[in-house]
Amino acid sequence: MKKFPETFVFGAATAAFQAEGAVTEGGKGKTYWEDYLREQGVFDPSTASDFYHQYKTDLALAHEFGMNGIRISIAWSRIFPDGTGTPNPEGVAFYHRLIDECLSRQVEPYVTLHHFDTPLPLYEKGDWLSQEMRDAFVDFAAFCFAEYGDKVTYWITINEPWSVVAGQYIIGHFPPNIQYDLPKAIQAMHHMMVSHARIVNLYKEKKYAGEIGIVHILESKYPISDSLENRQAALTENTLANLFLLDATCNGRYSPQTMQIISDILLQNNGSLITTPADFAVMQAAAEQLDFIGINYYASHFIQSYAGESLIHHNATGDKGSSIFGLKGVGQRVNNPSVPTTDWDWPIYPKGLKDMLLYIKKHYPNYRKLFVTENGMGAKDVLVNGEVADSGRIDYVRVHLQAILDAIEAGVNVQGYFMWSLMDVFSWTNGYNKRYGLFYVDFETQARYPKQSAYWYKSVSESRELM
Ligand code: FCB
Repeated sequence: MKKFPETFVFGAATAAFQAEGAVTEGGKGKTYWEDYLREQGVFDPSTASDFYHQYKTDLALAHEFGMNGIRISIAWSRIFPDGTGTPNPEGVAFYHRLIDECLSRQVEPYVTLHHFDTPLPLYEKGDWLSQEMRDAFVDFAAFCFAEYGDKVTYWITINEPWSVVAGQYIIGHFPPNIQYDLPKAIQAMHHMMVSHARIVNLYKEKKYAGEIGIVHILESKYPISDSLENRQAALTENTLANLFLLDATCNGRYSPQTMQIISDILLQNNGSLITTPADFAVMQAAAEQLDFIGINYYASHFIQSYAGESLIHHNATGDKGSSIFGLKGVGQRVNNPSVPTTDWDWPIYPKGLKDMLLYIKKHYPNYRKLFVTENGMGAKDVLVNGEVADSGRIDYVRVHLQAILDAIEAGVNVQGYFMWSLMDVFSWTNGYNKRYGLFYVDFETQARYPKQSAYWYKSVSESRELM
């Protein structure tokens, strides 16, 4: 098959904290990032891409460059500055304006409720590990549905539960910077999935007209060689990072095989997972009603068995997010010399996306539809005479779109693609150094410049063909 279906969505993605800036404007409360980043003194997120003020420009560009979808997220701390309590009218009004602008440009908003940005007071109470946070999240979602439900057709509960817990409790590059606490990570993931499920059930009970889904980062895990140990290690990491969440999302319970592997990890790390029968009742009801799954895909990982104590090696390019790690009871990520990598050493491996899409079709056949909700390449783009020659990004996106076309041809129901990111945005662990955008942002002036990739993406979306 050469062409994307007529109904296929070509979009791009953003997230509130990474795009909006204006962190102290409009009555916004704090997330757990502001003070943390200020104390670190490395990156200042307070302006980001100034989307709070420039959203009209960005939506005009999205429209002009052929996009018909955009991922945005609602900053919980703009609506409820303390996470709970009385809504802040300025925050509520901002998202009305933003959503209205999307709709008037025919750029359909896909709206995420939690994109790595827990309000500070709830973070201090224990974030996803605390009941108060989970209840408050459901209340926040209910508020958003009541407020924006007649305008927004596509809702996403949570962005990347795995990245949240890996950042917070395993790699330790997100506050509270805890490393190697796999039991905490697993417990928090379970809580996120129950919270997600409560929100899906609520949305369906109230009979809103739109669709609701969740976004997972789903990257394939391959044994670096065919030995039994390496195959087991790859399966273990796949279970921890992918299957645990897919089981919860699609089936509302963890399969015996998943639970066996998770129990082994917990045992090796002296921990346990607390669940209740009510959790599973809620999760199963949600799994039956879920409309879509969003897949974020950047890279795949090659895994070798690893018997030592947990250890993280940061790579030379200084991106903590791309660390190679060895985890007690799991395995270790290693380089595969035959696979090319990005400027940040992320393996470029479109086959991993196709394999993941086919895997979902085969092993989770009750999924309804998929979107690729993030994919893209972080690079050190340079602006020369107002232009950015980013042919590497074009090549990256082309091969990943081809993988999606192949999967569609093989019968996987993929309905759209969102490039990360619409314009250059703030990166959680790299500040402004790592650029992903279709539009270059001069962070001094906040001017936007279409990169070569933006022109290319426009031609793809218009012709529905890869060139
Ligand atoms: C994903 C996040 C997104 C962005 C990209 C590069 O994990 O969802 O916010 O930072 O990585």
